[in-house]
Amino acid sequence: MSENTTKQTQTESAATDSDQPLTTTAGETAERTQSEWTEYDFRGEAKMTVDDLDVYYGDDHALKGVSMEIPEQSVTALIGPSGCGKSTYLRCLNRMNDRVSSARIDGSVELGGQEIYQDGVNLVELRKRVGMVFQSPNPFPKSIRENIAYGPKKHGDLDTGLLARLLNRSDADERDELVERCLRDAALWDEVSDRLDDNALGLSGGQQQRLCIARCLSVDPEVILMDEPASALDPIATAKIEDLIDDLAEEYTVVIVTHNMQQAARISDQTAVFLTGGELVEYGDTDQVFENPHSERVEDYITGKFG
Ligand SMILES: Nc1ncnc2c1ncn2[C@@H]1O[C@H](COP(=O)(O)OP(=O)(O)OP(=O)(O)O)[C@@H](O)[C@H]1O
Ligand SMILES: [Mg+2]
Repeated sequence: MSENTTKQTQTESAATDSDQPLTTTAGETAERTQSEWTEYDFRGEAKMTVDDLDVYYGDDHALKGVSMEIPEQSVTALIGPSGCGKSTYLRCLNRMNDRVSSARIDGSVELGGQEIYQDGVNLVELRKRVGMVFQSPNPFPKSIRENIAYGPKKHGDLDTGLLARLLNRSDADERDELVERCLRDAALWDEVSDRLDDNALGLSGGQQQRLCIARCLSVDPEVILMDEPASALDPIATAKIEDLIDDLAEEYTVVIVTHNMQQAARISDQTAVFLTGGELVEYGDTDQVFENPHSERVEDYITGKFG
């Protein structure tokens, strides 16, 4: 009880001391974050624009004034020590935090220029456009085929049958085509094409994760959010997911949380570094962030001095 109280007091003082220099937590060098460290100048269009985003869980200020533009058709990596707010941030991008009753969100998030935090936004439609892949693969306990066909069926895209009738084909043809396309796009087709009616839970962990990516692709998303998608996988399965992410970025906007610094450096175009206290400290081109960070704390974090 007393330990909890002390912890909370420290969090609160860190949250309210933003004007004070030298707000340190264990192992971090004191420095004042400069706004230009997060101003990332990129070519092309922003797919999502986050402006002054704050998230509170009860009294806990989990994300503090985060602003960042996410470029389309690229890979954005989110890194930082445990508890710094990476998952919280990711969940704000498709309003998944709405499901957390203690969460309060202030600020703006735009998708394709339209505010997602406003009344009247259809959350089912939003989560179709901004899909999510979780840390542990979570296929439905159904066949491989049904895992992929489930989303489009739920959203009515397959059941209307209009396209199939126009093309003089059956709905089943259309479904099978979709299943194959998604599995191919998720680099899984060759491994499962002869067992589409087997239960998805019989696949290996890496295959299950690619199936979950295929399922995410089946509803035609624009943005794919991934929260440590390879952290439960062995190096070979991880390499397959990394190759896949690289391919996906040609068509989709990918935002990925990873604890693996080498992975972030390998697969991402830009990297955002969150540090303790829910602050976005640095955001920029991945090579710049890893090779020549502005922030000393970011450098310490990347070189393994804390976190
Ligand atoms: N549902 C919740 N209810 C209350 N507090 C939460 C909730 N989810 C996260 N938090 C708190 O918000 C802060 C940020 O958590 P978050 O899960 O976003 O961190 P993270 O960077 O993803 O950490 P990790 O690397 O361990 O996954 C933490 O202090 C955490 O305890
Ligand atoms: Mg997390």
